[in-house]
Amino acid sequence: MRLALIGTGYVGLVTGACFAEVGHHVICVDNDPAKIKLLQEGGIPIYEPGLKELVERNVAAGRLSFTTRTEAGVQASDVVFIAVPTPPLPDGSVDLSFIEKVAREIASAMTSYKIVVDKSTVPVKTGDKVAETIKRYCKAKVEFDVVSNPEFLREGFAVEDLMHPDRVVIGVKSPRPVNTMKQVYAPFNAPIIVTDINSAELIKHASNSFLALKISYINAISVICEATGANVQEVANGMGMDERIGRRFLDASLGFGGSCFPKDLSAFIKIAEQVGYEFGLLKEVQKINTVQMERFVKKIADTLWVLKDKKIGVLGLAFKQNTDDVRMSPAIDLCQRLQKEGALLRVHDPKAMEKAQAVLKDVTYVGDMNAVADGCDALVVATEWDEFKKLDLARCREAMTHPILFDGRNLFDPVEMEKLGFIYKSIGR
Ligand code: UGA
Repeated sequence: MRLALIGTGYVGLVTGACFAEVGHHVICVDNDPAKIKLLQEGGIPIYEPGLKELVERNVAAGRLSFTTRTEAGVQASDVVFIAVPTPPLPDGSVDLSFIEKVAREIASAMTSYKIVVDKSTVPVKTGDKVAETIKRYCKAKVEFDVVSNPEFLREGFAVEDLMHPDRVVIGVKSPRPVNTMKQVYAPFNAPIIVTDINSAELIKHASNSFLALKISYINAISVICEATGANVQEVANGMGMDERIGRRFLDASLGFGGSCFPKDLSAFIKIAEQVGYEFGLLKEVQKINTVQMERFVKKIADTLWVLKDKKIGVLGLAFKQNTDDVRMSPAIDLCQRLQKEGALLRVHDPKAMEKAQAVLKDVTYVGDMNAVADGCDALVVATEWDEFKKLDLARCREAMTHPILFDGRNLFDPVEMEKLGFIYKSIGR
């Protein structure tokens, strides 16, 4: 099939590459000429495991190309996916101006029937607005269908999630686009659920909010564990064996971050408010997440007594492992809170140092994770990178003024750490 992706960010680029991988002909469009030039020259603007190889292979096979011209993408394709950002506005609601602009651009470029698919995360009822806009701005007055097809990929695992989705959600108003959409997704062998557009849009916000709720729930449990001497990982394991609950997203941490959960929670609370429902449950999810970070900083401050002029090594800057994304990263938030108290930071991340430099100033960026601890009063794990489990702990211990490790991701075993001579404090254990 011939597909266009308008917006070549995380979702657009990875989705485009995966669609090409299964045999579709894909044009990725973006209005950022620098990004398109980079892609055309074989560069990749983000770090995502497996993506570079996928893009190279499909460009070489002639199934994947890049352009800044929306018109070219629309006219060459049967199905046009909208995958542009939907950033938050100051009041927590969603800025839909990119969606509206792209809808107008698609409308003016349409000269024959098109299926216009919204893949961006949008508030319920956005599909109606997109349809209205296309109708208004389509001079050729051709027929079209708007479809909602939310994306569930996780950063750091995007290719894997896209190639093996748990489910594909297709929200439609009429039956006409259903078969084509099923053909687009047939090679992925995933269960397909066809719904109305509003339900499809809601599935996305409801899913992300539920996952955030799961994390806040286990983080709340971690507080009880700390107060009672229980172990949150054992509690999560025991809970997770109940199939109705499931073990995933029950890893207690210093809090969730990223460009999705915090934004989608605020948006969903706002959407609920607009239809007359106060979503107190989700407000509590946000509150627990903030308190979790405050508790972690307090744990560090209580142990070190005074933070001013203390040298602290921070491992991890990305908002999670396997990505260079530092947007709304709890690790960056933590660094800035420690800096505010006067701490001097040595920091490292396997992939995110370059992007972190734009937002995190006046710290020492250290290339080797084992050298972060040098001369430090404490070491902090802020991101759940697997690499950190291979840290040379004996070397770190010797290089520190005091071997104190705060583990915001429960990567190490408390008993082993004590044996190694560390004062070790983690989450809920
Ligand atoms: C999230 C969802 O998981 C995806 O399904 C969704 O498609 C995506 O948002 C989106 O809307 O685009 P993502 O933000 O990439 O994906 O990352 P997650 O793996 O969900 O992690 C989010 C945050 O939660 C990270 O800071 C992570 O460290 C934290 N987390 C995750 C925990 O603290 N504990 C856990 O058990 C799991």
